[in-house]
Order: sequence, then C-alpha cells, then structure tokens
Amino acid sequence: MVLSPLSGKRILGSWMALSGVHKERGEVRIHESLDELSTDLADYIAELSEACVKERGAFAIALSGGSLIGLMGKLCEAPYSKTVDWAKWYIFWVDERVVSKSHADSNYKLAKDNLLSKVPIVPSHVHSINDSVSAEDAADEYEFAIRQLVKMRTVDVSDISDCPKFDLVLLGLGPDGHVASLFPNHSALIEQDEWVTFITDSPKPPPERITFTLPVINSASNVAVVAAGESKAEAVHLAIDETEPDDGKTSLPARMVQPRNGKLVWFLDKLATSKLQGSHSE
Ligand code: 6PG
Repeated sequence: MVLSPLSGKRILGSWMALSGVHKERGEVRIHESLDELSTDLADYIAELSEACVKERGAFAIALSGGSLIGLMGKLCEAPYSKTVDWAKWYIFWVDERVVSKSHADSNYKLAKDNLLSKVPIVPSHVHSINDSVSAEDAADEYEFAIRQLVKMRTVDVSDISDCPKFDLVLLGLGPDGHVASLFPNHSALIEQDEWVTFITDSPKPPPERITFTLPVINSASNVAVVAAGESKAEAVHLAIDETEPDDGKTSLPARMVQPRNGKLVWFLDKLATSKLQGSHSE
C-alpha cells in the first residue's frame, strides 16, 4: 500500500509500480494511460490546494498552455469540482502568448474555456496579462501585478531569494525541451533579475510571448512537469537521466528546472518515458 506524502491517503494506481524518486530530478510518476495520468494529476493538485489553503488561506497556482490544460480536465468533475476550495485559488500564467484574450492562441482563453469557466473561481482572482500592450510592457505590467500580490502575501515570498513563491507551477514540456516560453539556447534562459520577461522570436508560434524566468520557477514550493506522448521521449530522457556535464544538454530548459527549496514531480505517460534510462528508485 502506498500513502500520499501530503494527505496520507492510500494511493491506488499501477503508476506507482513504474515510478520512483530520482535523487536529483525529483519524483517521476509514470502512468499507463492519459486517463490515469489525469486522475493522478487531479489528486495531486487537489491535495496541494487543500494543504496550502489550510496553511496560508490561499492557493497560488501558475498555469502553462498546451496539452496540460486538457490533462487537468478531471478537476472539473466530481469529486474535485465539489471538494476543492475554488474560492481560495489565485490563477496566474507561467507563460502567455501576446495575443488578444479572445484569440485561439491565448493561453488564458484555453484555460478559461476548458477549466476556469467550469469551476467556481473568483473572477478577480484570475491574473492574466494585459493583452493590449507590447510584449515588453505586458511582461513589466505582469511582474508589477505579481509584486503587489506578494506584498499582500496572496502569493508567498521565497525564503531564500526575493522571488515570489508560487504554491504550484505547472509546466508542459516541448519536444525540444522547452518549458514555459523558455527555449533552448535563448537569452531568456539566463535572465536572473526579472521575474517575468518577454520574447519576440519564439521558435514555437506565435513569436511574441511573456514568460516566468527560471529564478521564479525554481522558487516555487511545488513544480510539476506534465508530458505525454512519444514526441516528448527524447526531451524527458535529456531532462531526467544522468548526462555528461558540458555536453550542451545542461542548457536544456527542462533540465534547468531545479526547485531550490521546493518539490519537483514529473507526470509522464509510458510513451513519454520510452527513452528513460537509469533506475529511478534508490
Ligand atoms: C505554450 C506553453 C508551452 C507548452 C509546451 C508543451 O504556451 O506554448 O506554455 O510551454 O507547455 O509547448 O505543449 P504541449 O503539451 O501542447 O506539447
């Protein structure tokens, strides 16, 4: 029998048999199916929400775009739709495309249509970017807004840096190893002072985006990377498995996700782990 580190509840699911803890790369959860991954992801998020609301009366969660939102879909269903304290959720975006909120490329629209509009989130707790200004101004304004919320402790502050400490940062993973809008070998990867930066040359369309920087991602209490499908297998291998230093792989964005004082969990399906080497249980 396996107990949840958070609630102590009994965890079911064959994914446990395939998973383990990697000494440097966090907890790797491998699921037989997308359905099992979604259930486990919903359990994990609901448990974190419960613990954070109990501890500090709020749950500050930052979302990515892409397939992640669909995989969070079970949160809109029972029991979570009834048991999660949605009124205490504060929603942010780890990255956003600089397009109007009604545009098909908008991460805000993706989350609103597929998640936020289906559960009783407080509208004023949804913190999206200003979609009527330039990428640079949108990044500045978003950082300013987050700084105000840190002052009010709606978002906690890191104990080891002046960064915000989100309760949960949810990341997808690109086939090239990008997370958020932090792409391999891009200057945004080495940004250390800004909390939110912007890019205008994203290799993945659309080109203009704002994104949390690595110091903010790595200051979170919890970071989860959610990746499914064969197309992610190489990136998963490069992000988790032992690799020789200075082989250029160390600048893989997904490998630079290393919470300094937080917990990292990978939600993967079997296809995404097809190239994963090295045992992950000590
Ligand atoms: C974005 C995302 C991006 C996404 C990955 C994975 O706005 O494009 O935030 O980082 O998470 O590209 O996307 P998929 O899960 O759809 O492959």
